[in-house]
Amino acid sequence: MWYSIYSVGDVDIDQEHANIDFMLSVLSVDDSQFKDQIQYLVKALALHFVNEEKIADARGYNMSDGHRQEHRRVTAQLEAIMDSLQGKKVDPVTVAQNLQDTLREHILEYDRYLTAPEFF
Ligand SMILES: [Fe+2]
Repeated sequence: MWYSIYSVGDVDIDQEHANIDFMLSVLSVDDSQFKDQIQYLVKALALHFVNEEKIADARGYNMSDGHRQEHRRVTAQLEAIMDSLQGKKVDPVTVAQNLQDTLREHILEYDRYLTAPEFF
């Protein structure tokens, strides 16, 4: 469930976050579909980070170097998760929950300060 606490104050970024969160919430627990869906989602998240940086640059948001580095770190982490799925039996609910937690923690620790005044 998506809550307003996760709003960063930019409608386009918020929409991408909500879309990814929704996709995570409706993942199939059927193993054959699950891995394809996870691969799609990991790519969607990596693309979202690129989009978010473009939006921040274009709209003059306060995106720190640490925030950009965190995007690289999480992307590498997601790719490692994707690699770990190859040939393994995984619990879809746990993987989806971990991805959802990663997205929400990133929003709370970094994204919600994008549109905040400089003194934050
Ligand atoms: Fe971000």
